[in-house]
Amino acid sequence: MQPTFVTERLMLRPLQLADAPFIQKLAGEKDVASTTLSIPHPYPDGAAESFIAANHERYSKNLGSTFALILKETNELLGCAGMHIVSDYNRAELGYWLGKPYWRHGYMTEAVQRMMEYGFNELKLNRIWAAALARNPASSAVMQKNGMKYEGKLVQHIKKWGEYEDLVYYGITLSEYETALR
Ligand SMILES: CC(C)(COP(=O)(O)OP(=O)(O)OC[C@H]1O[C@@H](n2cnc3c(N)ncnc32)[C@H](O)[C@@H]1OP(=O)(O)O)[C@@H](O)C(=O)NCCC(=O)NCCS
Repeated sequence: MQPTFVTERLMLRPLQLADAPFIQKLAGEKDVASTTLSIPHPYPDGAAESFIAANHERYSKNLGSTFALILKETNELLGCAGMHIVSDYNRAELGYWLGKPYWRHGYMTEAVQRMMEYGFNELKLNRIWAAALARNPASSAVMQKNGMKYEGKLVQHIKKWGEYEDLVYYGITLSEYETALR
């Protein structure tokens, strides 16, 4: 069973099928899709249901976990955060997005902090990393605020909506994480 976590303002819980219309609405905004590599735009009917089913399967195969981020005060779904795990290397890649109305409240920084605790303390990972488009300072800030270090830039590594774009990479190891907590 995928766990549920509670932070100061958020609940991080497994995705449910009933989340699909909220995911479709929030992830369907162009500005949310614009800086991600996996959210289609326009967001097709059925894509949220497929995303939820794929994540349940991924969890059951120990390939990762995705959490719905719920604002405790109102019970609204704000967005999602997940990890893709490569268990041979005890390594996971973080990915996340929030609906636009919820940007700039520190919610993703708070959620990623709990995901990292889960990854290192409970899943016993050795490394957590993530990549962002170089033009996405908010995502880089979320990683930096959680102690992840800049590891470099891959120039014109992907093509997004017809344009080649640079990717920046951030990561943190278990020993760096433990040192930072001391
Ligand atoms: C990236 C994203 C998840 C950030 O979530 P968020 O909850 O708004 O982030 P936080 O509020 O925790 O902000 C973290 C820091 O980034 C800073 N920040 C936010 N937007 C910024 C911007 N446009 N430019 C520069 N800094 C920015 C914040 O000021 C904050 O730092 P501070 O606390 O020192 O002020 C959100 O913008 C989003 O969902 N974007 C679209 C999808 C996406 O890009 N996902 C990531 C793919 S790699």
